Amino acid sequence: MKVLVATEKPFAAVAVEGIRKEIEAAGHELALLEKYTDKQQLLDAVADADALIIRSDKVTAEVLDAAKQCKIVVRAGAGYDNVDLDAATAHKVVVMNTPGQNSNAVAELVFGMLVMGIRKFYTGAAGTELLGKKLGILAFGNVGRNVARIAKGFGMDVYAYDAFCPKDAIEAAGVHAVDSQDDLFKMCDIVSLHIPATAETKKSIGKALVGSMKKGGILVNTARKEVINEEELAALMAERTDLMYLTDVAPDNADAFKAFEGRYFATPKKMGAQTAEANINAGIAAAKQIVAFFKDGCTKFQVNK
Ligand code: 3PG
Repeated sequence: MKVLVATEKPFAAVAVEGIRKEIEAAGHELALLEKYTDKQQLLDAVADADALIIRSDKVTAEVLDAAKQCKIVVRAGAGYDNVDLDAATAHKVVVMNTPGQNSNAVAELVFGMLVMGIRKFYTGAAGTELLGKKLGILAFGNVGRNVARIAKGFGMDVYAYDAFCPKDAIEAAGVHAVDSQDDLFKMCDIVSLHIPATAETKKSIGKALVGSMKKGGILVNTARKEVINEEELAALMAERTDLMYLTDVAPDNADAFKAFEGRYFATPKKMGAQTAEANINAGIAAAKQIVAFFKDGCTKFQVNK
């Protein structure tokens, strides 16, 4: 079988080597398409692939049409909003993710951006500290749990809300569970987003929630830019000059945020999961899942059931 790693944003070389070992040891062939700049390159590369390993690469109906032999797509990472699941199901293609494999890397970036933000972007001006601050974690999945663990090391007071995780599971992790996302935004100094981009969450973070934050509130987004109502957030930040927004990947309308120097930061390219460790964990997990799928028909981690 031919397994194509199609990554516009490549894995670390060491991770690609690990993937290659897994694939070749099982008697399959590995092909690589990295840093592609045009959709046609992807359409050409998938033509003879039996399996795909991707990251945030868009797997649309058009890509699936071109991937005539493809039986499985593994998104090496958590969020699979970049894959058209209905089209994959219609094409009889199994889609999987690799939950948890890159979550520590994303969680560490939350604190990288936070420390930079509260220390006034290292300009030399006096900043503030994380110790004793109330941190609100919106969604208590793999990343949210890692954020909670690290936050405790900073001596933060940690709260979480998750529509799908029972309160006692949150409390069992030593985190205060709150009743609603409204309460989380109202009571916390900092809110860190860990919700997926779904029909329900897209544009859900806007004026009502962020505007209810206390003076000096900080919003950290290492989830998806799509969950933000950009127009509302930009208008709110113009009005509330105390608010800060730190995000892993620029908003679609980045120009609307440029005026907020000193309280806005966006990574130039989404890099929460961009560590050698996360690439190795997620990439090799993806390779193993493909090997098990072809060997035993294993569909653990399938997301388009
Ligand atoms: C994920 O959903 O796993 C993260 O957002 C990482 O995405 P990436 O692989 O494109 O860096």
